Amino acid sequence: MNLFITGANRGLGLALTKEAAKRRHTVFAAVRNPEQRVEELRQLQSDFPNQVFLLPLNIADEASCDAASKRLREENVSLDVIINNAGILDERSKKIEELDMDKVEQTFHINLFGPMRVIKHFLPLLAKGPNASIINISSEAGSFQNAYGGDYPYALSKSALNMFSQQLKKYLAIDQVSVYAIHPGWIKTDMGGERAPGTPEESARGFLDIVEKKMEIQATSCFINFKGEPMPL
Ligand SMILES: NC(=O)c1ccc[n+]([C@@H]2O[C@H](COP(=O)([O-])OP(=O)(O)OC[C@H]3O[C@@H](n4cnc5c(N)ncnc54)[C@H](OP(=O)(O)O)[C@@H]3O)[C@@H](O)[C@H]2O)c1
Repeated sequence: MNLFITGANRGLGLALTKEAAKRRHTVFAAVRNPEQRVEELRQLQSDFPNQVFLLPLNIADEASCDAASKRLREENVSLDVIINNAGILDERSKKIEELDMDKVEQTFHINLFGPMRVIKHFLPLLAKGPNASIINISSEAGSFQNAYGGDYPYALSKSALNMFSQQLKKYLAIDQVSVYAIHPGWIKTDMGGERAPGTPEESARGFLDIVEKKMEIQATSCFINFKGEPMPL
């Protein structure tokens, strides 16, 4: 399969790229800055030269999304899976009275409008049919039922991402495209920190099983975890 993954240079995005390459898939690994923190991805590219391809892409910038999608179109690339992984967690633990609204806006630009821009520009490259998937990496923080009264920009942007995913699921049902908003678990990355119980590698294996349709998914909404279990909306 051909996978397109954003934020592929570190954390979960890098683990997804590694797992997909190990399983013999081809990955278009999108990175915001192809000069910064890309050493591990470059190594992976040299280990799998015919399977891992770097693509510069800043999901906060529509012109960058347009340019990256044009580049793939010019090379006649057709995608089976789009994974919107890139995201930020800003204004951590700030009270509502203390929030910097510019940072709130920036979070929405990346965590919600980023995946929307990506789908706008890359959906035409997706080969529709029962093997096609769109995965938006969400978070339990976006669960309405589990609202914990903090991480406002992050939680609200992930809630909205869940709604965007559900909208896409309906829109693309006729094309048989699977659409999920998936919580990867609390995992050890720059975002998750050292205390996180899970690893990005374990979550990545779950994600690949989901896109390879190795899991029976019972959920009625698109919001699930990396084990394929339903998440509370
Ligand atoms: N870690 C957890 O415990 C956890 C839990 C729930 C959900 N998640 C979700 O899982 C996903 C991956 O998180 P992570 O833990 O791997 O985070 P991370 O280690 O902080 O990595 C974030 C990735 O997003 C990229 N990125 C940020 N802004 C971007 C932009 N404007 N354009 C393109 N790429 C951009 C970063 O690129 P740069 O290197 O250029 O900054 C980096 O590759 C996120 O959506 C996150 O919300 C994580």
